[in-house]
Amino acid sequence: MTKPSVSDMESMVESARVLVCCGSGGVGKTTTAAAIAVEAARLGRRVVVITIDPAKRLADALGMSGLLGNDPVRLDLPADHRGELWAVMLDAKDTFDGLVRREARTERQVDEILANPFYVNIASRLSGSQEYMAAEKLFELHGDDRFDLVVVDTPPSREALDFLEAPKKLTNFLDHRVYRWLVAPARGGLKIVNFAAQPILRTIGRVIGADVLADAVDFFRAFEGIEDGFRERARQVDRLLRSDATRYVVVASPRSDTVEEALYFTDQLGRAGVVTSGLVVNRLQPMFGRGSSKSATANARRAENDSDATLALLHGNLARLRAIGEAEETSIKPLLDRLSDVPIARVAQRADDVHDLVAVADIGAAIFGR
Ligand SMILES: Nc1ncnc2c1ncn2[C@@H]1O[C@H](COP(=O)(O)OP(=O)(O)OP(=O)(O)O)[C@@H](O)[C@H]1O
Ligand SMILES: [Mg+2]
Repeated sequence: MTKPSVSDMESMVESARVLVCCGSGGVGKTTTAAAIAVEAARLGRRVVVITIDPAKRLADALGMSGLLGNDPVRLDLPADHRGELWAVMLDAKDTFDGLVRREARTERQVDEILANPFYVNIASRLSGSQEYMAAEKLFELHGDDRFDLVVVDTPPSREALDFLEAPKKLTNFLDHRVYRWLVAPARGGLKIVNFAAQPILRTIGRVIGADVLADAVDFFRAFEGIEDGFRERARQVDRLLRSDATRYVVVASPRSDTVEEALYFTDQLGRAGVVTSGLVVNRLQPMFGRGSSKSATANARRAENDSDATLALLHGNLARLRAIGEAEETSIKPLLDRLSDVPIARVAQRADDVHDLVAVADIGAAIFGR
């Protein structure tokens, strides 16, 4: 099978409406998301990049420390970039609040929910709420006329499904027996107060605290009537995550453990019915010259025999560096084989961390094969 040319990465990105950068911890998801966004803006697209990066590395890399928030901020780009670049630093709680505001029927309902301690707790700590709010945010920005491409950086995770299945998790929560049991009688006209009279709730109250239980019951009561809106929204988000408009790019580095993780990730995406559309192998050791480590070692021996100690040392170093590169090639091979029918980009390890727009653009150029 012939390898796709690097420009395939460009056409893949050009036809995407949403692009999700995923992979395990520290491989370069945030950097890749920023680099692809900058490149797409160079090509004339109006791009918004969302990061969920708790270390705020994207903001740093874009020279926007402290300036990014939950609303898109437009970034300055060099004059030859025909499009626009906007960036968002995801605030899960703020996004959840926005969702409540949109779905609630009255101002009073908004106030009741947002002020409820149980809500405040689940909005920031509900497992998967970060992933869901990232998906929610991408859905929101996908529908925003200002942008024609949304690039999404994801939280570090071994589980591709954490992100993909987040909307379903919310729906499952709303369909959960306990939730239904707490809410349903209220719909039948029964006063929530009656719950307190139920022995099981008295027991729960003793375990988790009567206040917490009261907050939870209040929350479910306040939530009543808007959960259909939430459920429908989650369904739409789920549809977008699985649609053709959304592309998944797996990012990996050439260490055998991260390659294993990337393979696992790709399998998980496949099992969820989602195609991996591109692979970025980041932080590769540059290959110095054309030869192998063996040929450099032979040259070192020859120089030694000629009593040229300096040249022997240089060839010896070259042999060691090439040996690292060769070991990396061996470890990424299973991944290259598995994803041989999608565009693959190689990005070299840089001497320094990526902390400015020039470095981000350099990585973008490598990804797009410029
Ligand atoms: N090709 C590279 N050369 C040198 N440094 C790099 C390269 N790619 C990424 N880095 C640096 O590695 C660190 C991790 O990169 P990045 O934050 O993009 O990874 P991540 O996958 O988003 O991490 P996390 O899983 O923690 O969110 C950053 O400090 C970044 O500047
Ligand atoms: Mg990151």
